[in-house]
Amino acid sequence: MEYARSVQSPNAYWGEQAKRLHWIKPFYSVKNVSFDPENVSIRWFEDGYLNVCENCVDRHLANNADKTAIIWEPDSIGAPRLISYRELHDEVCRLASGMKALGVRKGDRVAIYLPMIPEAIFSMLACARIGAIHSVVFGGFSPEALAGRIEDCGAKLVITADEGLRGGRCIPLKHNVDAALAHPGISTVSHVIVMRHTHGEIQWNDQRDVDYQALTRSASPDCAAEPMNAEDPLFILYTSGSTGKPKGVLHSSGGYLVYAAYSHERVFDYQPGDVYWCTADVGWITGHSYVVYGPLANGATTLMCEGLPNYPDETRLGEIIDTHNVSTLYTAPTAIRAFMAKGDAPFRDSRRSTLKIIATAGEPINPAAWNWYHDVVGRGQAQVIDTWWQTETGGVMITPLPGVDRHKPGAATQPFFGVCPQLVDNEGHEIEGPGEGNLVITDSWPGQMRTLWGDHERFVQTYFSAFPGKYCSGDGARRDEQGDYWITGRVDDVINVAGHRLGTAEIESALVAHGKVAEAAVVGCPHDLKGQGIYIYVTLNQGFLPSPEIHEELRQWVRKEIGPVASPDWIQFARDLPKTRSGKIMRRILRKIAANEFDQLGDVSTLADPAVVPQLVDARVNRA
Ligand code: WTA
Repeated sequence: MEYARSVQSPNAYWGEQAKRLHWIKPFYSVKNVSFDPENVSIRWFEDGYLNVCENCVDRHLANNADKTAIIWEPDSIGAPRLISYRELHDEVCRLASGMKALGVRKGDRVAIYLPMIPEAIFSMLACARIGAIHSVVFGGFSPEALAGRIEDCGAKLVITADEGLRGGRCIPLKHNVDAALAHPGISTVSHVIVMRHTHGEIQWNDQRDVDYQALTRSASPDCAAEPMNAEDPLFILYTSGSTGKPKGVLHSSGGYLVYAAYSHERVFDYQPGDVYWCTADVGWITGHSYVVYGPLANGATTLMCEGLPNYPDETRLGEIIDTHNVSTLYTAPTAIRAFMAKGDAPFRDSRRSTLKIIATAGEPINPAAWNWYHDVVGRGQAQVIDTWWQTETGGVMITPLPGVDRHKPGAATQPFFGVCPQLVDNEGHEIEGPGEGNLVITDSWPGQMRTLWGDHERFVQTYFSAFPGKYCSGDGARRDEQGDYWITGRVDDVINVAGHRLGTAEIESALVAHGKVAEAAVVGCPHDLKGQGIYIYVTLNQGFLPSPEIHEELRQWVRKEIGPVASPDWIQFARDLPKTRSGKIMRRILRKIAANEFDQLGDVSTLADPAVVPQLVDARVNRA
């Protein structure tokens, strides 16, 4: 069996798969990994050299130069933009030359804060071409959040646009960059490349700002691809953890691309000629691996949609599928639920007969949404593929495979090739057979993150110390009688809001930085559309009383500190929070109250003051 071979002989298996790429200098070593907490080290193809951009672009010119690499659908209905591999090559080389002219060199960091426009893909690939490490920041993050990321990675260059468009709304990206760069901590950015997209009004700093079109028009269309060691970093992507600031997840060049390309082919049954559409924003890992790197490494046609697939209305999704003969749709459960809420009618006017795979990722999919996706969007004919993975894993880890339809709504089912999942109890003992526990991975796969930018110790601490010798995913899972995995959700303080991953600790520290807030506790709470919503408990400083004005002020404050992605759904003012005698907030209780499950609060006798519980229940704000 192929799976058995992949986990028993990883060197042979992955050595073979890696041949799908062009190596400037071939590798002899395949896997060199230690999960020992004393010495965590992850290396794949470590003596090989390649260039990721060359593999995603130049390699396809010989036979497929005129093939469409990118189909771009604008936010509002209008002509799509089609970009061939030849044009992609020209755009990427010009931008790469322009970046070099601005002094960007191999190993430098480049922050990309762009909307979903082809220039976002050009920018990522241009970085890869010259060996610069990109860090894409989602446009839904605020100037504060952007500043934190730029500062942490020490970016030399920022690439942005005047404004982004999403569902008809304007996002003032350049304005946000100006605000971020005004932060006193930031001293590394020498230039900002600005794409004129909406032509909205913006401030201009002649010393620092560079016009994208002017730069690329005058730059050379020749730019040699830098030979990169397989272990040289390709990108940093910040993601939320259960504690502290967002973590800079670092991915490699060789192993990452092998895994992204191979998983894209197998998980989505990619065939030459397919039109493949992943709706994720390039600001998230799904966008990195399955809008950009996986599909382009395979020479696919990748469809990119600037805005929301339900804008101007719900018929847009089906129209785009029919117009471009989309064969694979990859989206998030949250989007499926939003469509489902509007009913089947918007799908009556489109055929969607080309769809063969309809996939999801990012959060657990509830069976009702799974069935609706299968029956309505896929007309009962396309296979639903529920993929479990993480920013840290680089690519899909647990997934059904096309053609092996087990029809289990809500189950991610089986490990992908080369992936060794295990369930362990809280003491780290392996749970065999059917059961539920912490989901860990016992051996490495090429797409695994290599470290946290600038903080290897935190990397080891976060992922390898809870269950020494194993990668700890932070998710819980159940395994059924057939050995299929059902992801049950995070076991830590990370929440998943509309498929966007947020740390409750991040939101809490933003709140307590507000002058009127004494204390704050943030929990996830079931939300019909978003999967999880953000429920906040705050106690105010002396002299301030709860009011609708303070409520709104705090909501706006979180949006300003972190961004609209972290917009609170419910804010409850509390006189006190439930704490143990040692002063630790008992979030378990707060989660239950937020979810209206106050009959399941469990033991509250260890609280310093159990009387706070009925007060909190009485004042709860989610009375759904
Ligand atoms: C959750 C997104 C259930 C999980 C690719 C994980 C899922 C976190 C699934 C990672 C799924 C992702 N079923 N839960 N199919 N896919 N998750 O880093 O909690 O943005 O740890 O990567 O999303 O989110 P991230």
